[in-house]
Amino acid sequence: MNIRLARAEDVVDMQQANLVNLPENYHIRLWIYHIVTWPQLSYVAEDRKGRIVGYVLAKIDEESEDKSADIHGHINSISVMRSYRRLGLAKKLMLLSQEAMASVYKAKYVSLHVRETNQAAIGLYRDTLGFEVANTEKGYYADGENAYMMRLDFKNKF
Ligand code: ACO
Repeated sequence: MNIRLARAEDVVDMQQANLVNLPENYHIRLWIYHIVTWPQLSYVAEDRKGRIVGYVLAKIDEESEDKSADIHGHINSISVMRSYRRLGLAKKLMLLSQEAMASVYKAKYVSLHVRETNQAAIGLYRDTLGFEVANTEKGYYADGENAYMMRLDFKNKF
């Protein structure tokens, strides 16, 4: 298994993995935009034949109207194909992206949204990586499910 930075030519395979693994899907332009704008933050895991079996898509959050707010990273999407799960791939993808957020962009923390019933992802974020629930966003998802907004402070981490 190899983990490397995502490149523009990976976006179709990343999008395909996303379609298989998650109900939250995005137009191909969004995938390209992320990789071109923040080229150090998104990674892929590939098998021995070079097929993409996992990805993390991340950005620096620039939407805050409060200009004094801390620079922070945001994980848009992460997934690993079913037969490659519980091998530590998601943990590695997350750590590489977080490290780059802190070192390249001087981000102070990272945030993400996750369905409140997604036990596997919550286990990864909370138990393995140390994220905490910052708040609950009611009806965040298209089907009405609530999201946990989780965040991890980088202080003393990188
Ligand atoms: N149940 C409970 N805890 C889990 C599970 C699970 N099924 N899977 C992973 N974890 C936790 C464990 O603490 C695990 O450590 P351990 O194996 O030593 O016990 C830790 O996460 C690290 O696991 P990894 O092997 O790195 O995780 P994996 O590569 O299997 O990927 C992921 C986890 C991404 C959540 C995978 O299950 C997946 O693709 N799920 C479907 C897509 C998804 O839900 N993505 C997240 C949506 S939220 C967002 O994208 C911001």
